[in-house]
Amino acid sequence: MKLSVTRWLQVSSLLVLSLGISQFSLAAELPLQAQSIQAYGRDATSLNGEWKIIVDPYENGYYNYRYEPFDQQENPSVNAFFTDSKQKTPSDLIEYDFDKADTLQVPGDWNTQKEKLYYYEGSVWYRKKFDAPAAKKTDRQFIYFGAVNYRADVYLNGKKLGVHIGGFTPFHYEVTGKLKPKDNSLIIKVDNKRHADAVPTLNTDWWNYGGITREVKLFNVPRTFIRDYKIALTSLEQKTVTGAVLLDGAKGGEKIQLRLPELNIKQTLTADKNGSASFSFAVPDAQLWSPETPKLYSVQISSGSDKLTDNIGLRTITTQGKQLLLNGKPLFLRGISVHEEYSADGGGRVSHAKEAQTLLGWAKELNANFVRLAHYPHNEDMVRLADQMGLLVWSEIPVYWTINWKNEATYQNAEAQLAAMIERDKNRAAVIIWSLANETPVSDVRNQFLARLAKKARALDNTRLLSAAMEKHYRSDNPNIAVVEDPLADLVDMVSFNQYIGWYDGLPEKADRVTWEISYNKPVFVSEFGGSAKQGLHGDVNQIFTEEFQENLYRKTLGMIDKIDGFVGTSPWILADFRSPRRLLDGIQDDYNRKGIYSNEGVKKKSFFVLQEFYKRKAEQSKNAE
Ligand code: GCU
Repeated sequence: MKLSVTRWLQVSSLLVLSLGISQFSLAAELPLQAQSIQAYGRDATSLNGEWKIIVDPYENGYYNYRYEPFDQQENPSVNAFFTDSKQKTPSDLIEYDFDKADTLQVPGDWNTQKEKLYYYEGSVWYRKKFDAPAAKKTDRQFIYFGAVNYRADVYLNGKKLGVHIGGFTPFHYEVTGKLKPKDNSLIIKVDNKRHADAVPTLNTDWWNYGGITREVKLFNVPRTFIRDYKIALTSLEQKTVTGAVLLDGAKGGEKIQLRLPELNIKQTLTADKNGSASFSFAVPDAQLWSPETPKLYSVQISSGSDKLTDNIGLRTITTQGKQLLLNGKPLFLRGISVHEEYSADGGGRVSHAKEAQTLLGWAKELNANFVRLAHYPHNEDMVRLADQMGLLVWSEIPVYWTINWKNEATYQNAEAQLAAMIERDKNRAAVIIWSLANETPVSDVRNQFLARLAKKARALDNTRLLSAAMEKHYRSDNPNIAVVEDPLADLVDMVSFNQYIGWYDGLPEKADRVTWEISYNKPVFVSEFGGSAKQGLHGDVNQIFTEEFQENLYRKTLGMIDKIDGFVGTSPWILADFRSPRRLLDGIQDDYNRKGIYSNEGVKKKSFFVLQEFYKRKAEQSKNAE
């Protein structure tokens, strides 16, 4: 489908709108920093590394003793931590000192860096001192955060830049004219407390890792710069590439060069008065992107003195009745679910590309061609590596379990996270599915909330499929017939559901007698199944938590779901054991959910080989069907 310029502007203005509204400020104004930005690959000054920190459980650095926020006072007290104050006279009473404070590494969660912070849920102040990088007088400057979990109050040289809500999506602030040549003080209050109205809500089955968990960087752009672009293969028959570029600071008439050197594409576009230009051209000789051939083309966009490069895969993803089609050919998703955690070395949140590479490498060893990145947008390295390694991606927002469907601020928060996820990864060929929710209880308010979200997702990106992990139940007149019936199924392109026959629902043998009734003329995907096993614990196949129990559960479940009409794949729960505050069985769980087919150190369990063999057969069947 062609993205007209108006459509594109609608999309980008929608993006601006949705990114600008945080959970606590539903005001209509749009702080400048809320607009989208393409940060990956820009020359930048990294602010990663050692940051000074102050653990502040009572938020003593944020509220005065009357519990009034310091940052809403005309002249904040020197005891407001964001002023980064120092004694001027020996009698000055200042009850904090960043220079003498402890440190944490950024990016990284605090829980696995300091034993005293393992369970900590509260506020930690972070400070980074830095000199402003050289910039032309006409340059504009931005500070970019890959993600901060969960709420970030951001201050530069004592002045508040803004508040960001949401633990897994990027955000940035324009700091043009706000930097000093030397000794800038960037201070962030990071608060990972859970809230009933938040997204996710109070209860999750994953560790609440707090901190500046992804990169922080500062970059300069010229006065007129490339704010955003979208590029995709939009017609398989005509091999047409369509897209648009959005300049910021344009007056109209500016020239934009677009190059795909390997395809001999060299276009000069002209920005309209809004700074936007769209394009469409044929690439008859292009090699399509697929898991088997993850071909990426270098794309170069330049305008004036600004230049951006990216690597783009060209593919289409569509459905036809119960079939999933990649580049017009039937696709079977040999998947696995993945949390963004790598704890083999005692760590927690994935904080470096090499950890992401390891996790995706484990998936490739499985003969997987698909990863369900649960239950929140993963870091950008994960998605870009999937582009390179040939792994299709399901990306989701943490609308998980019992969200507060009635709260407008909760909806705005979910929508902002959805928009930020789509904005960041809209050019990644590997991403084929945006997922709206996981195991959410059916109700009218939940249906309305998700219908709004689905509409928004389609407005932001109608080149990908929508899905959501729904739940099953049994026919009232026959306990051996499982059904998936959910109003959400009418809103999505692929009917996905989690089911735990053999674990939470009977024993593995139950899978031998259950059949499925799923009456949507759409592809059917099993987004979770599984059971726990402590790696190295062996015993009788009926002994729970043994590798033999899990292995048998995989055999029985795969046999059952492979018979489902319209079955297009699965992403069993889960690649590797992961930390969860809900998994407290000493000697077996020890704070870990053990449903991994790998241990958290990367040791394969017996179930790994059952799934690997199943996927090997599926890959051969797909190849023979071509
Ligand atoms: C649910 C949920 C997962 C959870 C899993 C489990 O399906 O989606 O987040 O970890 O079950 O209970 O292990």
